[in-house]
Amino acid sequence: MYVLYSQASTKETKFTSGPCTQVLKPACFNLSTSAYWLFQWNLVAQFTCRISVVLFFGAFFCNCYIGKNMDLGDFGKGRMVGQLTCDSVIEVKRLGYAFLRFCSSSQIHQHPLPMIHVDAFLYDDDVVDSLCEEGKMSRSYCTECGSYKTASLEFISHSFSLMELKFLYQHVLPDLTGKVVVDVGSRLGAVLFAGYLYSSASQLYGVEMNADFCQLQEMMITKYEFIDRIKVVHADICTQPSLLQKADVVVMNNVFEYFLDRQEQARAWEFIACNVRRRGSLLVTVPSLEESLSKLQADVQLSQWVEEVQLNYDVYMEKDVDREALEQIHLYRIL
Ligand SMILES: C[S@@+](CC[C@H](N)C(=O)[O-])C[C@H]1O[C@@H](n2cnc3c(N)ncnc32)[C@H](O)[C@@H]1O
Repeated sequence: MYVLYSQASTKETKFTSGPCTQVLKPACFNLSTSAYWLFQWNLVAQFTCRISVVLFFGAFFCNCYIGKNMDLGDFGKGRMVGQLTCDSVIEVKRLGYAFLRFCSSSQIHQHPLPMIHVDAFLYDDDVVDSLCEEGKMSRSYCTECGSYKTASLEFISHSFSLMELKFLYQHVLPDLTGKVVVDVGSRLGAVLFAGYLYSSASQLYGVEMNADFCQLQEMMITKYEFIDRIKVVHADICTQPSLLQKADVVVMNNVFEYFLDRQEQARAWEFIACNVRRRGSLLVTVPSLEESLSKLQADVQLSQWVEEVQLNYDVYMEKDVDREALEQIHLYRIL
């Protein structure tokens, strides 16, 4: 027997459930007839609401607990939901849904933001994640049309991060005292500025074909007085053979992949392979040469041009380490 209490009148009204369908008239009730019936309807409504709560949880536990020897602590965890019979889960969901509909006047439906009501008792985060992965649920919606059919965007960086730059100058490259570094496609100047601060390279050249990026780099060089060791050349790298020929280190971070079509990429790689030829000079690439060239019809004989220098990616111990990103960095020695 369940006992519910109502605060509908100043006097406490007591209901009994189970076989009881009777609504008890509060003591000392002294209103007009219509007010009396109004009050009675109010009580009936409240009673129905409360009995639904009881039925909901009653059915819930009957379905899930009785005869299945489950412990409630376990049931609360998503994995137990998977062990329930299909019928009981459907029933719990049906009752849950009916209950939600019944509470239509509650705050749930008045929330101004788009919201999905997911009871963690039934679906924990892992279950929701898998449903999202399977495309059965969505954690996002389109703010224009409200559609749940959304997909995650891929993010790509067109410059080295601070972590990658530190790794490059502190763990990949040897002492650069007196050496010439050329960054092919210098963009914002990250490789040049880091080279100025983290190495003793005598000259750092950036070659960039985009005029706006060249202007940006010039502004920073002036502002931070890097002019004595950094120079930016506004040009297509394929017009700069002598610069490549005198470089001790050439850095190529995803230079062509997103900026040239396949034929242009193949031509540019052939030009690089022809002009980065100084024996013992170093070439840093992201991704590997093998990966870049595998998609192209370029006449580059890797085995006759370079040998790969194995890098120790574990050497970078700082807490912001993104190992996957570091593993994209490759070092080659020119043969
Ligand atoms: C991915 S970004 C490299 C950014 C920079 N090196 C870094 O690591 O921070 C590639 C840059 O190469 C430039 N680029 C592409 N093809 C080029 C070419 N043939 N000559 C010169 N610059 C080029 C693009 O404009 C782009 O700014």
